[in-house]
Formats: sequence, C-alpha cells, structure tokens
Amino acid sequence: MKLESVCQEAAVYVRERMAHEGTGHDWRHIDRVTKLAIAIAAREGADVGICQLAALFHDLPDDKLTDSKEQELENIVLWMNRHHVPDADVRHIVEIIATMSFRGGGGAPMRTLEGQVVQDADRLDAIGAIGIARTFTYAGAKGHLIHEPESAPRGVLTAEQYRNEPGTAIHHFYEKLLMLKDLMNTPTARALATERHLFMEQFLHQFYKEWDADISV
Ligand code: ADP
Ligand code: NI
Repeated sequence: MKLESVCQEAAVYVRERMAHEGTGHDWRHIDRVTKLAIAIAAREGADVGICQLAALFHDLPDDKLTDSKEQELENIVLWMNRHHVPDADVRHIVEIIATMSFRGGGGAPMRTLEGQVVQDADRLDAIGAIGIARTFTYAGAKGHLIHEPESAPRGVLTAEQYRNEPGTAIHHFYEKLLMLKDLMNTPTARALATERHLFMEQFLHQFYKEWDADISV
C-alpha cells in the first residue's frame, strides 16, 4: 500500500488536533514542513511517503500540545495501525518523530535519510522570512519584548538558564536561529538554509540601523 494514500487522512486528523494552537506551532507550520519535506525528499532520493507522514505527525508529541509525549506517540502508532500502515514503516516514522521531539542538548542525530529530511524541513521553517514571522508571533504570545540591547547577543544558553531568562524576540536569533544553518543534514537543505540565513542577517542589520536611529541612507 502506498503511504501517500493515508497522508490525506493524516492531514485531516493532524489539522483537527492542532486547530487551537497560537504560538506558531499551528497547522500551517505542519503544512509548510510537509511540503518542504516532500520536495527535499524527492531531490535527495528519500522515501517521499515516509517523509510526508512523519512530517505531518512530527509536532503532535510536542510539549506545547500534549502533557505526555509517550501517550502521543502511542496514539500515532494506533492511528497508523488503524490505517494499515506497514509495521516497518510505523517503526521508522515513530523513530523519526521520537528522535526529533525528545531532543536534549544538541539533539540526537537522525539515523535515516528520511529522518534527516524531515528534521531539515522543520529547521528550515524556523529560519528565513517565515522564521522571523514565527519568532515575533511566539514572542508576542509570551508577552516578550522585541529587543533589550543589554540582553542580546549573549550566545547559547543552557535549557536551565533559558527557563530563567525573560527572553526577547531578537535574543532568539542568537540562541537558535542563526545556528540552524550549520545543522542541516542534506545538501538541498544546506543551500536553502544559506539563502534564509542571509535574509535573517540582512533583517538584523536593518533592524539595528533603525533601532539606533541611524539616518544614513
Ligand atoms: P520547532 O517546532 O522548530 O522545534 P519550537 O517549538 O522551539 O520550534 O518553537 C516554535 C516557533 O517559535 C519556532 O519558530 C521558534 O523559533 C519560535 N520560538 C521558540 N522559542 C522562542 C523564543 N523564546 N522567542 C521567540 N521565538 C521562539
Ligand atoms: Ni515543527
């Protein structure tokens, strides 16, 4: 059975589950990541169906959407069983989602090409024009400020330090967004990340120029 045929039903299921999320972890994020994963998979010679289904499910076990990652992974397995996804594909897809969502420190490397593709697609959606938009949406939802010059840039914080940080939208570029370019797994994603990274650097350059009331044109 072709995995592509269950993806349409998976999309309906995931969209329903994510209907009320307002921090940038919404259905549109899933949709963008899924489309990007399909395109990268095709170019890199990865299994498109595996990438598509894993991308659709990848954020369901996220802390922001569920209290129990284990329960959520179990629900995903049950859903795939009900839709007759072959066992080997279920195991592969769950491995991808679990590795992506149980990240600690720098995150465990993805074992398979399909996992690398989905992780790349998710990371690409955090950078570039969309990444900037998501960052300010997240900051707004959390009541964070746009920028506090004293608090940025200060490099990478540990998770513990970050929990105690007020955080600003601009600070998020330095703790995460500007580092993602070097974490891409596939050549296709690396090329896209280079373009998106450059756009963020241009954005920051212009941002500081305006912040500093620099009137040169
Ligand atoms: P992902 O799904 O890429 O793992 P997260 O769950 O970490 O993303 O966050 C969702 C979105 O919000 C991403 O675009 C991320 O860059 C952004 N974001 C996460 N934490 C912050 C923060 N402290 N300030 C601003 N934006 C953030
Ligand atoms: Ni995501």
